[in-house]
Amino acid sequence: MLRWAFRPIAFMEDCRRQFGDSFSVRFLGFERPMVLISDPEAIKALYREREHGLPPGRNAILEPIVGSKSLLIQQGAEHLSRRRLMLPPFHGERMRSYEATMNEIVGAEIDSWPLNSEFPIHARMQAVTLEIILRVVFGVSSGPRLDRLREMLGTVLTETASPGRQVLGLVLQRFGGGGMFARFEGQLREVDELLMAEIAEHRQRPDLEQREDILSMLMQAEFEDGTRMEDRELRDQLMTLLLAGHETTATALAWTFDLLLRHPAVLGRLRESLLAGEEDYLRATISESLRLRPVIPLAGRRLGKELVADGLTLPEGTDVTPAIWLAHTRPDVYPEPFAFKPERFLEDAPDTYAWIPFGGGVRRCIGATFAEFEMRVVLREVLTRCELRKASPLPERTGRRNITLSPKDGTPVVVTDRAQRISRDMAFSA
Ligand code: HEM
Repeated sequence: MLRWAFRPIAFMEDCRRQFGDSFSVRFLGFERPMVLISDPEAIKALYREREHGLPPGRNAILEPIVGSKSLLIQQGAEHLSRRRLMLPPFHGERMRSYEATMNEIVGAEIDSWPLNSEFPIHARMQAVTLEIILRVVFGVSSGPRLDRLREMLGTVLTETASPGRQVLGLVLQRFGGGGMFARFEGQLREVDELLMAEIAEHRQRPDLEQREDILSMLMQAEFEDGTRMEDRELRDQLMTLLLAGHETTATALAWTFDLLLRHPAVLGRLRESLLAGEEDYLRATISESLRLRPVIPLAGRRLGKELVADGLTLPEGTDVTPAIWLAHTRPDVYPEPFAFKPERFLEDAPDTYAWIPFGGGVRRCIGATFAEFEMRVVLREVLTRCELRKASPLPERTGRRNITLSPKDGTPVVVTDRAQRISRDMAFSA
């Protein structure tokens, strides 16, 4: 358990070497073992079946924060009806309407960076992605309430960030010294109040029907029986989108910078392609980065019916998850699996069940298109305007931040030159 908490990649690699494609792990605090799989056919068999539910881990970790109605937590018909309601703002064709906002936010961020002094780019990417999701969800990002919300969301995530803090929190609670939890609960209460106040204000807006922000759309969307989400549920879905929608993307961007700045040939080719107005190599770079450095390690299911796959017969009720990093580093699917080679995705798009940074099936991440689009906008702006290098030539080690595998030192970089902002007429396809 300590190795899983603190050296997750080495732990999984050792398990693969010792046990092969499938093995079980008994995670601390869970009564049943979890079966980890990495064969694409087995992953397909798991993700294609709609009857499976969620293993208890997701609820235990996320429900206290995102709430019981959250799309991340709901199951079965309840989950599907919510998913249908929440998908439209994340459809490909909506992306173009977000592009100008994304450009403006990352442009202002770049203007604020110091020249010739070291700073961790992961934290700056968190600021950018939080700003983007706040603007897209609420339609505005200024005003005292949103300023406070921005500050509090950062605090809530830091409070629960490291495995050390999570373990300490549990121990303190177990022995009655709940100081850390009490503080965390207080912060969450404040975030709740801010969200409920924002919801109430949105309801009063005379232009609600014309508005295109996600909150306005969710307020007006109807379930099949004609009812709409109540305020309490809106709060849970907002919290879900604000948290799921920014930490993950920021971490993926930080990893991409770590990889690019250590591979000058790839970086050079990418810059050239961007200056020529092309985006294929950018897309391939992002796919390769998400392959080699998947942000979320596990996205499992509790079997709703027997699963026969990869020589195993697993009974209903078993907890099963793809081990995403292991699936992404199979030499039979990806020759030279540990090399950073965007070219591998130039000809062929990633395979649905061998490339699973966003999970799969009916629970596949609803923000996947949004996240990849956002990564393209941010990378294009930073790489065409800034000369930058890593502060240290060494690769980042894998650390943990909340539920993500993230660069341990925050990817310190130095910007040595910066060009003026230019107005862009080049729009990305969604
Ligand atoms: C690089 C960035 C991201 C990564 C790596 C990522 C990864 C994931 C993964 C692995 C899952 C679980 C899928 C499964 O169980 O099969 C998930 C679910 C989800 N993600 Fe993302 N995500 C990212 C960005 C986003 C964004 C930008 C949003 C929203 C704005 C978002 C919202 C969600 C939601 C709501 C779910 C729950 C879906 C459901 O259960 O139906 N994510 N994400």
